[in-house]
Amino acid sequence: MARAMRLFAFALLVAIAASVDRNNFKTCDQSSFCRRLRKVEQDNSKYILNLDTLQVSAHSLEADLLNPDATFKFTLTALAGNTFRLFADEIKPLHKRYKVVGALDGEPKLTKLEVLERTKQEVVIKCGDSKVKLIAEPFKIEFYNKDTVVAVVNARGLFTIEHLRVKPQEQADGNEELPKEDPGAWEENFKSHHDSKPRGPEALAMDVTFPGAIRAYGLPEHADHLALRSTGPGATDPYRLYNLDVFEYELETTMAIYGAVPVLYAHGPENTVGVFWHNSAETWVDISNSKDTNVVSSIVNLVSGKKDENKVDAHFMSESGVLDVFVMLGPKPADVVKQYAALTGVAPLPQYFTFGYHQCRWNYNDEDDVKNVVEKFDEGDFPLDVMWLDIEYTDGKKYFTWDPVKFSHSTVMLNNLTATGRKLVAIIDPHVKRESGYFLHEDALNNDYYVKDKDGKVFEGWCWPGSSSYPDFFDPTVVDYYSNLYSLDKFKGSTENLYIWNDMNEPSVFNGPEITMGKDMVHYGNWEHRHVHNLYGLYYTMVTMKGLQARSPNKRPFILTRAFFAGSQRYAAMWTGDNAAEWSHLAISYPMCLSVALGGISFCGADIGGFFHNPDPELLLRWYQVATWLPFFRAHAHIDTKRREPYLYGSDVQMRIRNALKLRYAHLPMWYTQFWEHSRTGEPVIRPLFYEFPEDSNVLDIDNQVLIGKSVMATAVSQHSASSASVYLPGGSEQLWYDLSDFKSYTGSGYITYPVNLDKIPVFYMGGSIVSRKDRPRRASSLMHDDPYTLYVSLDNNKSATGTLYIDDSESYEYKKKKYLYIRFNYKDNTLTNSFIDQDAKYPTLSWLERVVVLGASNNFRYATLKTPKGEDTILQVSYDSEGRSLIIRKPGVSMREKFTITLH
Ligand SMILES: *[C@@H]1O[C@H](CO)[C@@H](O)[C@H](O)[C@H]1NC(C)=O
Ligand SMILES: *[C@@H]1O[C@H](CO)[C@@H](O)[C@H](O)[C@H]1NC(C)=O
Repeated sequence: MARAMRLFAFALLVAIAASVDRNNFKTCDQSSFCRRLRKVEQDNSKYILNLDTLQVSAHSLEADLLNPDATFKFTLTALAGNTFRLFADEIKPLHKRYKVVGALDGEPKLTKLEVLERTKQEVVIKCGDSKVKLIAEPFKIEFYNKDTVVAVVNARGLFTIEHLRVKPQEQADGNEELPKEDPGAWEENFKSHHDSKPRGPEALAMDVTFPGAIRAYGLPEHADHLALRSTGPGATDPYRLYNLDVFEYELETTMAIYGAVPVLYAHGPENTVGVFWHNSAETWVDISNSKDTNVVSSIVNLVSGKKDENKVDAHFMSESGVLDVFVMLGPKPADVVKQYAALTGVAPLPQYFTFGYHQCRWNYNDEDDVKNVVEKFDEGDFPLDVMWLDIEYTDGKKYFTWDPVKFSHSTVMLNNLTATGRKLVAIIDPHVKRESGYFLHEDALNNDYYVKDKDGKVFEGWCWPGSSSYPDFFDPTVVDYYSNLYSLDKFKGSTENLYIWNDMNEPSVFNGPEITMGKDMVHYGNWEHRHVHNLYGLYYTMVTMKGLQARSPNKRPFILTRAFFAGSQRYAAMWTGDNAAEWSHLAISYPMCLSVALGGISFCGADIGGFFHNPDPELLLRWYQVATWLPFFRAHAHIDTKRREPYLYGSDVQMRIRNALKLRYAHLPMWYTQFWEHSRTGEPVIRPLFYEFPEDSNVLDIDNQVLIGKSVMATAVSQHSASSASVYLPGGSEQLWYDLSDFKSYTGSGYITYPVNLDKIPVFYMGGSIVSRKDRPRRASSLMHDDPYTLYVSLDNNKSATGTLYIDDSESYEYKKKKYLYIRFNYKDNTLTNSFIDQDAKYPTLSWLERVVVLGASNNFRYATLKTPKGEDTILQVSYDSEGRSLIIRKPGVSMREKFTITLH
């Protein structure tokens, strides 16, 4: 959803290719705390860890941390999985400092530590293969993997916690003793907005140096490349994490947009280390990458004879909160991402349909419109699972109501959709229209559910409905009330097949500072909005999840969110917000989703076609082809754009979009299995190349290619009229890759120039993988539930392959009662076998094995035999394609429930 209509009208006036109005958003220099923290002098840390006060317990160390003005309690805790938690709070704060609630998936698991050495100046502890050295003066912490130092906290001496204090009184004669403060320290203006800062300055910062690292990744969400760029005073602003509704966001900048996950990965060939900065206030992070532009230091090092060592420097800066940081020591990318998932959780298994195709537009106008679009999809043979309704379906932007004229039979409409195997998603936003008689507004006013301003009055802002107020989802009473609105007797006109889209939950406030809520607004528990800003979107989806689970206890919810924080994966899928119909926006969709996936949120997509403006047919069809390989697969468009449903185009374009949709539907079992595995391991579903090939220095900056698990690699084609694409095939000469379009095989020997036309983008199966497909695409995924499977066995250099398949009822929680099949397929010595990973799990699937396609098989097989425990051996026909690249084993016909052995002869 776009921002205000007033802006929309404004954009039309100004220019066709309008872009972000940067003036609406702060730079670091316009933010007092960012200015203050960036000015802290390097290599002059005043912080001392008083080791005389050291206390050691089974899992943690505790000591006083001092600066000349205040004393803090510092704790280091050892956690399971090579992870350490650093925590510091004031011993006697003037006000309580905020500690984030809701991002962690429960209390992290502790592990035992052992003190190796202890002197007056340092303490060394050990924990598995890791060691940590705490240095007293100046305060510093070194983290070791075995004997290699991989991260150093306060290496540059930028560590800061501004202790809370009483505002110094300005004295008439001017007191020379008082240090000069930043002009915005105690109150601050931005444009016409005033921030009263009732508690004064309370910022904190920490620098971390990662010796040996050559790239940094993470810190989503930014519309930027995956590998983080170097930032620095006088040059580029730090990466900003502050959930904002940015109208027509710009690409390749460090500006904040809708979501924030403060996790950073520093990666080198030997070690990958993660830092999770557990803080929900506005945050900026400076990154400096020794390998970027450090010509000067290289020369200095050359002269001084010092080795030019790789390192990444990071500087985290937040406006408020306690210091609470997790350092995850890997050592490989997969280890660190799993360590992060152990802290913030995984996405629970979604319903199967959620990986199908979603058709959205602002807006489908009425029930007839919805019906016609679905009919046209069917007529055109375009698979479709979900229709979406944007804000116009409501009665005057009052959520939990339907437009009484256009959507007066919403239940019938929903049931009609269900009858064709489809679902509906409708938008529900957090702002509440201030209209007397609107039950939600009345309830909220009467029961005191709204966020307050600094004077204790209900906060009023401007959003879609005009004057609006915002429920305080930090209040448990509001959570109970609001989640209950999703029950079928409350949300009249809804059914169990309605799922929810939460938009504008940064929260978006059209007339607020930076289009959001003022920082001195007040939440439950007397916390200022400043303390919890980045959590508002997460809490909102938590409420929706609670509501949908209560409404339909045995159906897995589906929620899409725009704003998110660390931990949002436990509640919702996300999309990259209001992008534009431009090739550059198509290109950025892979890096943005890869970055979000490393931040724990794999269920990511970008609006197909681009939200703003009109894509030409080539851009549109390319977008479908590229988006086929991202988890969330939805087309969406602004109200001012031309209709662009696939059936509106010429037959060539239609054919290509249809093929993309059918390829997607063929691979739904793969997506479903990948998300099942994500829910068990925390591994991201989509992965950048460095994740699987961490030692390959060529892949560090490749972010136009995605791996889906360990089986598929797709390359985005994002140039107009492209006739070729440069594709990097990783893994060396031992690694095989098979072109999905013609089964031609390649080795992983670096860049190839891959010819493309409008029919395809480069997609490869990874040698050694087995991908389960359903190759009879139908108009909706629900109609394919019992369809047979085809296995694509892509042999590695040793003529082996392995893969998994997960099957259940596609929608309920019965899988928690072991009603599923989790199958492993192995191919070795010309023989394909299956086994059941969880042997006590059973699901009575009707699906059977229709075909096995073997890629990379030798060309002299004449037939195959099928053995099952019960049946007699059966002879199966085999054939090769005309190029001899694929061998097809026809009709094994065996149920997916049964054990089997298929041998080629
Ligand atoms: C539901 O389907 C019936 C039968 O096709 C149709 O007559 C009716 O208009 C549909 N109603 C809505 C609200 O879509
Ligand atoms: C093939 O097998 C050898 C010996 O077991 C192993 O070292 C090698 O990694 C395997 N190659 C592939 C591509 O799996």
